[in-house]
Amino acid sequence: MKAVENQQLESCAAWGLDPQRIPKHVAIIMDGNGRWAKERGESRVFGHMNGIDSVRASVEAALELGVNHLTLYAFSTENWSRPVEEVNALMDLLVETLIKEVEALADKGVRLRTIGDTGALPTSCQAQLKLAAEQTAHQENLELILALSYSSKWEMVEAVKAVMASGLKPEEVDAQVISDHLTTRDLPDPELMIRTSGEHRISNFLLWQMAYTEFHFSPVLWPDFGKEEFIGAIRDFQNRKRRFGGLLDTNHNVESR
Ligand code: IPE
Ligand code: IPE
Ligand code: MG
Repeated sequence: MKAVENQQLESCAAWGLDPQRIPKHVAIIMDGNGRWAKERGESRVFGHMNGIDSVRASVEAALELGVNHLTLYAFSTENWSRPVEEVNALMDLLVETLIKEVEALADKGVRLRTIGDTGALPTSCQAQLKLAAEQTAHQENLELILALSYSSKWEMVEAVKAVMASGLKPEEVDAQVISDHLTTRDLPDPELMIRTSGEHRISNFLLWQMAYTEFHFSPVLWPDFGKEEFIGAIRDFQNRKRRFGGLLDTNHNVESR
C-alpha cells in the first residue's frame, strides 16, 4: 500500500498536480464513438471497439493518481432504443472485453462492479459481469463502476419504491434516506464529471449524486480521449473553487455526500 501511495505522489509531481486535491470519485460520460467512426468511414461499432483503449487509459490514469472510484457510463436506459445490431454488438463487446481484461484489472488492484438495471442485460453479460466482480472482489486500489442499462430516473423510481416499501413515514424521509436507497449508496458523490465529444448535457446520468459535482466538457471524441486528456480534466478540476452554497472555497477532498 505504501509503495502505491509513493508512486501516486511521484505521478502527481510529474504531472504538476496537487496530490491533496485528487478527486476520490470521477464519473465519465464516454461519448462520441459513433462520430469518431463516421469520420473514418467506418461503422459505429468500430468506434465502440476503439473506445476500449480510452477506458484502459482512464483506468490507468486513475490508478496512477490515486482516484478511488471511477464510474463509466457505458450503456444508458435510453440506449436500448438504438438499432438492435448496435445494441447486440455493444453487449458482445462488453463480454469479450471482460474476458480479455479481467486478469489485468485484478493484477492492477481494480475491483469491478456495476450500477443499473443489469437484469435487463443478456444472460451472457450478466454471467461475465458476475464472474469479473467475483474475480476482482478483494482488490482495493480502484473501484471501477460500469453504469449499464443505467439512468438516473430509473434509479430514482427504484429508490422511491424501496422507500415506500420500507414503511418509513413521510416525515422520516430526508435527503439521506433517498441517498441510502440509490444504487450508489456506498459511494461518495462524484467530485468531477467528464463528458467527451463536445456535448453539454447530463443525459440522465447520476442526477441526484451530481448536485455539486464539477463538470469538465471535452471536445475530444471518446476513442481519442487518452491519459493526457484525463490528466487535463483533473488539472481543470484542481483550478475550480468549490463553495457548496457557502462563501469559502472548500477543500476539494471534502466529501459532498
Ligand atoms: C458513446 O458513443 C457510446 C454509447 C452511448 C454506448 P455514441 O455511440 O453515443 O457516439 P456518438 O455520440 O453517436 O458519436
Ligand atoms: C450518453 O450518451 C450515454 C452513454 C455514454 C452511455 P448518448 O450518446 O446516449 O447521449 P445523448 O443521446 O447524446 O444525450
Ligand atoms: Mg452519443
